[in-house]
Amino acid sequence: MVLVDACKGVITQTRRHSHILSLLGIRHVVLAVNKMDLIGFDGDRFAAITAEYLTMAGQLGISQVQCIPVVAPDGDNIVAASARMPWYTGPTVTAYLESVDVAGDVSQRPFRLPVQWVNRPHAEFRGFCGRIASGTIATGETIAVQPSGRRTQVARILTPGGERDRALAGESVTLTLADEIDVSRGDVLTAGPAPLVSDQLAAHLVWFDDEAMVTGRRYLLKCGTASTGAVITTLRHRIAIDTMARESAATLDANQIGHVQLSLDRPLVFEAYRDDRDMGSFILVDPISHRTAAAGMIDLSLRRATNIHWQRLAVDKSVRARLKQQRPCVLWFTGLSGAGKSTIADLVDRRLAELGRHAALLDGDNLRHGINRDLGFSNAERTENVRRVAEIAALFVDTGIIALVALISPFRSERELARQRVEAGEFIEIHVATPLAECERRDPKGLYRKARAGELKGFTGIDDPYEAPQAPEIIVDTSELSTDAACERIIRYLREHDYL
Ligand code: ADX
Repeated sequence: MVLVDACKGVITQTRRHSHILSLLGIRHVVLAVNKMDLIGFDGDRFAAITAEYLTMAGQLGISQVQCIPVVAPDGDNIVAASARMPWYTGPTVTAYLESVDVAGDVSQRPFRLPVQWVNRPHAEFRGFCGRIASGTIATGETIAVQPSGRRTQVARILTPGGERDRALAGESVTLTLADEIDVSRGDVLTAGPAPLVSDQLAAHLVWFDDEAMVTGRRYLLKCGTASTGAVITTLRHRIAIDTMARESAATLDANQIGHVQLSLDRPLVFEAYRDDRDMGSFILVDPISHRTAAAGMIDLSLRRATNIHWQRLAVDKSVRARLKQQRPCVLWFTGLSGAGKSTIADLVDRRLAELGRHAALLDGDNLRHGINRDLGFSNAERTENVRRVAEIAALFVDTGIIALVALISPFRSERELARQRVEAGEFIEIHVATPLAECERRDPKGLYRKARAGELKGFTGIDDPYEAPQAPEIIVDTSELSTDAACERIIRYLREHDYL
């Protein structure tokens, strides 16, 4: 229902709301033109407003619009027809709402049951519980388990009201299957045409969080009963709600809408939002704050995830680590510019060489001359910088090497991503916690001076944030400790925790 003021007609807010409705896939709209009394119940004015609205709705793909002139406080055309507007012969608001078919017939669509819970009270019984999102199912019918694609038949259909041989969309059921096949929460039992299965999606996002969207950052995606890690790889465009124009943008702020591409940790079973609102919508949750950051509507899968496989390598990490007689790990030095990250990492690198260990040092400044030469210091570019270095560090760990990383890496969530990229126990976060005042006093590259003078914008610690680690494995502060002592503390940690 879209409400317009008869005195004002179609305004920006009307466009904005209608655009959101169209994105949500809503095809039936009631346009209530309110305060008709203030324009003397003028039928021509009503016709002009509705004509303008219908043109806009047509552009938005809203196919069915019922325009009703009302006076909300007096109840004209709300429940009873208005004697003051005899020229209007259409339905009242309540009559229209009662008659319109809003649900669409989901039972006519293919069968989809997102599995909420696997009920296994004892060895002989295994039931898959959930609410049927669409379609109907009968005992004996063949179903496929997605994303694995394994097929079997429905043995029994159990409902709160007892056992049945059919069930339909909207009902909560427990199904048992003819064969023992692997099904877990988040899988979808399907019949008829296969749903989409992919780890790459294109979607519209409505951003909610006060913290702006960051491409490259990891969020938790929840779609129906499934959840998986997801990275927004690209923001294709933002939609200017007032004009509906596509505009290029680097980020989305709260209440903005954009079209994005997402890369998921594992394949998701879904439908395009226009076909199925339940299976085509998702939310993104910020993994640190646990806030719902955005709502998404899936447009299409970008490619079949099944076409890309992990190449299994015969010589794995344990073989390489054994050859080198060491336990590989990432030593991730984070802290402000000038805190001493590179100096300490260099000392640790040298000590490891003396001890006959194989290490590699990845230094932010140096990498920015090579693999990261295309990146600057915006949020998105720093995020991408950290992501690339995390990937490289993980590849070193895979080859049995101790990777030393010296990077400001100002954001907690990207350091968390780097941690998750390797196995538990393989990531050692070292906070080089030298206070800002001391870093600024040292100012080895003269950058703090430039930042204070306003010649360098977005400098970490001055006018760009640094999020200190909350639970780093090691903290060293070079205003209290010499760099040699800091190095020794790290070497001791590695010995005590059996890395050396
Ligand atoms: S990070 O934020 O993306 O992790 P990184 O460690 O690669 O940063 O690079 C930081 C180095 O770039 C600093 O030591 C400094 O020499 C240089 N630099 C140039 N501009 C900036 C800036 N705006 N903020 C921080 N460092 C900067």
